[in-house]
Amino acid sequence: MRNILVTGGAGFIGSNFVYYMLSRYDDCRLVVYDKLTYAGNLDNLLPVQDDPRYTFVRGDICDRADVEAAVRAHAIDTIVNFAAETHVDRSIMDPDAFIQTSVYGTYVLLEVARAFGLERYHQISTDEVYGHVPAGRSSREEDKVDPRSPYAASKASADLLVNAYHVTYGLPITITRGSNNIGPYQYPEKVVPLFATNAIDHLPLPVYGDGRQMREYQHVRDHCEAIDLVLRRGQVGEVYNVGTGVEVENLAMVEILLDALDRPRSLIRHVTDRPGHDRRYSLDIHKIMALGWEPGHTPEEAIAETARWYRDNEWWWRKIKSGAFREYYEAQYGERLRTAAPLP
Ligand code: NAD
Ligand code: DAU
Repeated sequence: MRNILVTGGAGFIGSNFVYYMLSRYDDCRLVVYDKLTYAGNLDNLLPVQDDPRYTFVRGDICDRADVEAAVRAHAIDTIVNFAAETHVDRSIMDPDAFIQTSVYGTYVLLEVARAFGLERYHQISTDEVYGHVPAGRSSREEDKVDPRSPYAASKASADLLVNAYHVTYGLPITITRGSNNIGPYQYPEKVVPLFATNAIDHLPLPVYGDGRQMREYQHVRDHCEAIDLVLRRGQVGEVYNVGTGVEVENLAMVEILLDALDRPRSLIRHVTDRPGHDRRYSLDIHKIMALGWEPGHTPEEAIAETARWYRDNEWWWRKIKSGAFREYYEAQYGERLRTAAPLP
């Protein structure tokens, strides 16, 4: 029996990880510990709410007493930390919460893991810690981190702390660095759910700059499978990249998405670029593949399947897009869309 504290488990990847683990193992218990920020959503966990192996605790990872109480009450042996502020554009608008949660919050979790002698602390990290990767190269786990946005810097800082706790205190840690995840329950500020839900409503799709930036769009289920594998077979103290090995330009992603939803290319608008926009991420995934993992979806399948999930699950996203999201959308896109170049 494994008792896992899934911090940030009411968000996109964390909730998918909870399903994955409950569907795969009978003998694990999952305690979601989540502050429920704007991105946390108990609707994401509705399918498991009556499962006796699942418990929800509302709490902030920056609050040591609350984290300790949850670890003690549920006899936790493993922490998997998904909790973070996760949207690059919001980190450009206001980095404060990013630093607080990813830096101080990760420190608190590490201290608790050390004090309780946990069997494993696993950190969910990102390919963004490597920064922009020039053409012809792929990031390997031993590459130096070179983050370029406040979000990426907050995540890289957390990775450095996690590694320091292993080296200094012998804490049994592992880290996975994932590429762009897509799939069910992703907050519609991220590009794929934003564009899918806009396209469903025949609204414009604000593509930053020329749209030729490269991302590795990955199905969230494949990422969850890799995290589980690292928990079982990963070597303590090690970092594992989790990507697809297939780079997709944003414009190509948009075309797959529009085709899946039967919407025209004329919805595309090229708008002012994101400041400091990393043009290319690319992960070398040989190390995780050597553990016996490979991506279960092509990027095309992942993008089309995801677009159709949003088409079929309006109950989930319409209420999000009608609330405070509107103010965010106006601040982020209002001016950009009003001044967007008309289509040729
Ligand atoms: P998300 O924004 O959907 O969810 C984040 C969750 O963390 C939310 O439920 C939120 O309420 C919770 N949270 C935030 N601050 C907290 C705090 N102080 N205490 C407790 N809970 C808090 O994010 P996501 O896309 O599911 O990402 C999860 C993790 O995976 C993050 O660490 C992110 O950096 C990393 N990651 C994401 C991607 C991606 O493409 N989405 C790729 C690689 C890595
Ligand atoms: O690479 C992993 C990272 O992927 C995670 O660590 C982050 O938490 C996650 O948010 C994501 O970061 P990105 O910045 O890559 O994702 P986003 O969905 O915001 O943007 C994907 C690409 O699409 C990026 O090149 C910017 C572009 N984009 C994004 C938005 C929101 C647009 O062109 N228009 C948009 O409106």
